[in-house]
Amino acid sequence: MTCTFRCGSACDHPVPNPTDNEYFGDVVTAALSRRSVIKGSAAGALLLSAGAALAPTPAAASSMAGMPKLPTAHGPSKPSHGRGHHGGVDSLDFTPVAPNKLDQLSVPKGYHQAVVAAWGDPVTPDAPRFDFERQTAHAQSKQFGYNNDYLMVLPLGRGPRGSERALMVINHEYTDEILMFRGWKDGAGAPIEQLRIAMAAHGMSVVEIERVGRTGRWRLARSGRRPFNRRFTATTPFLVTGPAAGHALLKTKADPSGRRVLGTLNNCSGGVTPWGTTLHGEENINQYFEASAPVDPAYVDAFKRYGLPIAANSGKFWSRVDERFDLAKHPNEANRFGWVVEIDPHDPDAVPRKRTMLGRFKHEGATVTIAKDGRAVVYLGDDEKFDYLYKFVSTDRQRKGNSAAAHRHNMDLLDHGTLYVAKFTGDGSDDGQYDGTGEWIKLCTDKESFVPGMSVAEVLINTRLAADKMGPTKMDRPEDVERNPVTGSVYMACTNNDSRTAAQVDEANPRATNKHGHIVEFDEEHQDAAARTFTWRLFLVCGDPEDPSTYFGGYDKSKVSPISCPDNVAFDGSGNLWISTDGNALGSNDGLFATATRGPERGHVKQFLTVPIGAETCGPLVSEDQRTVFVAVQHPGELDGGTPETPKSHWPFGDQPRPAVACVWKD
Ligand code: FEO
Ligand code: CA
Ligand code: CA
Repeated sequence: MTCTFRCGSACDHPVPNPTDNEYFGDVVTAALSRRSVIKGSAAGALLLSAGAALAPTPAAASSMAGMPKLPTAHGPSKPSHGRGHHGGVDSLDFTPVAPNKLDQLSVPKGYHQAVVAAWGDPVTPDAPRFDFERQTAHAQSKQFGYNNDYLMVLPLGRGPRGSERALMVINHEYTDEILMFRGWKDGAGAPIEQLRIAMAAHGMSVVEIERVGRTGRWRLARSGRRPFNRRFTATTPFLVTGPAAGHALLKTKADPSGRRVLGTLNNCSGGVTPWGTTLHGEENINQYFEASAPVDPAYVDAFKRYGLPIAANSGKFWSRVDERFDLAKHPNEANRFGWVVEIDPHDPDAVPRKRTMLGRFKHEGATVTIAKDGRAVVYLGDDEKFDYLYKFVSTDRQRKGNSAAAHRHNMDLLDHGTLYVAKFTGDGSDDGQYDGTGEWIKLCTDKESFVPGMSVAEVLINTRLAADKMGPTKMDRPEDVERNPVTGSVYMACTNNDSRTAAQVDEANPRATNKHGHIVEFDEEHQDAAARTFTWRLFLVCGDPEDPSTYFGGYDKSKVSPISCPDNVAFDGSGNLWISTDGNALGSNDGLFATATRGPERGHVKQFLTVPIGAETCGPLVSEDQRTVFVAVQHPGELDGGTPETPKSHWPFGDQPRPAVACVWKD
């Protein structure tokens, strides 16, 4: 069921990267074959020693100045200096939650929890009350969408009654129609209104929230004008910007300009910019398109690489609502999705943008940091088995301050720069570590392509095809990638890849049939995010700690929580890494984990919470003092056989399961 609804069964399709980019194994197999212990690592021990503890780099922290911060439980956030607020450096003083299969949000002793917003809750002040039995697309377009994923909280100051207020920005990645509607079979026979409801349940919400008294609890703001509250859906007008805007491959019958797109789809994770906007990755966009007949042969290679239909094929049947979703008739429509979108939550009239300079692929998220010289850097994962890690570096520097001129300048930053793809080279495993060096391979700038035979616009529109020609490293589903604001190191979650064979392992993806995923840690040269080279090492190799192939940053594995399928990452004010999981393959519910990244506690993974049955943990957001945590509980009850008549989860309100954002806070 998860496969069907989340990613259009991408996991069950042939791997869409058929290129013969060299695997590390191909290059150094000869060398490694002499080291039988190492070559056997696909099934055996990863003989890793503890990575070098990394000195904090104050420069890294100061480069994040101006980045919005979640208010802490004890008032406005303060700048972090890399020290834990409670008990010293990197303290994570909670008792881990045990793995479980409970239909609840389980949090450590001493913590409380509450739902902040659930599917169907009012977003716009005129939104009708949610009624599961009488849903309409009109109502849904004003209500909180389905399957919350990325979340960000941007402080607003005090509300009308003195309460502390903030804007919560949320992605609604996809819909589980079989849980949303009674009697759902497929899109072919469903009432058209249900297809429209599903379209309205996609996109994003911007919603004002308020702190309850002086507690750590947050809820939807109940009073005031709430002028920023807004929904973006599959039909909201977007402006396409950057070098590919207006290109022939983006033009359609409905939009001959190639610059105006209706809607955003499958917004998975995202990021916040230092200039106050948010970025949202359009991920598994292939599943929204169908073909009533074979598509134009000129599109076949690209469509195959993106998992899009090429022959007569049925998808969600959204073409019953709007013919543009039929690729036999409108092949370019698919090229208008798969981008990173930027919205300005503080301007309810701002037209959202699709930023073509960040490339088109299955964008997991887009996290922003500022290079030493002030340029904006965005890390971008392409979440598919054997796909790549990318990075964008802007041409211009971020302009600080809140002036209108600075804002205009910064709103142009992501349209000009350089797009890179990553190559990870192992240095051999005989040093006892899975580590090595890496380089960022230039794909294009906004003016020049470095990919033979492809123009700038072609590189950006068919980025996967372009990258294939340049020899990057095929990763095990690179998802969230984020820079540690305290240490400057960058962390990439590779969720899993059960299709990697023993012949395909490399030092950065060292396990065949990688069911549990791993986390790569890398340091850009001179800790400058704009650098062209980096060093890397594996930080976590996930799974049951008793499994000899696992590695927990060098920490004593008898003392860690089991963790499987890392997906999203976040940091607290001490630079601890927080990891949410998607698809726990160890038989427990998914959850949120935390670990120090340096010092004696490096690799001491502790489970902070578990989500209800069938759910995935998304969008973790941790206050600097670790006392308030927001988490998006996505697709509770999404298990085979789950329907409104036979729900597999009753979270959070005891009846039908409803995806919801929860906050967790300490006494
Ligand atoms: Fe939508 Fe890659 O998770
Ligand atoms: Ca090595
Ligand atoms: Ca994800």
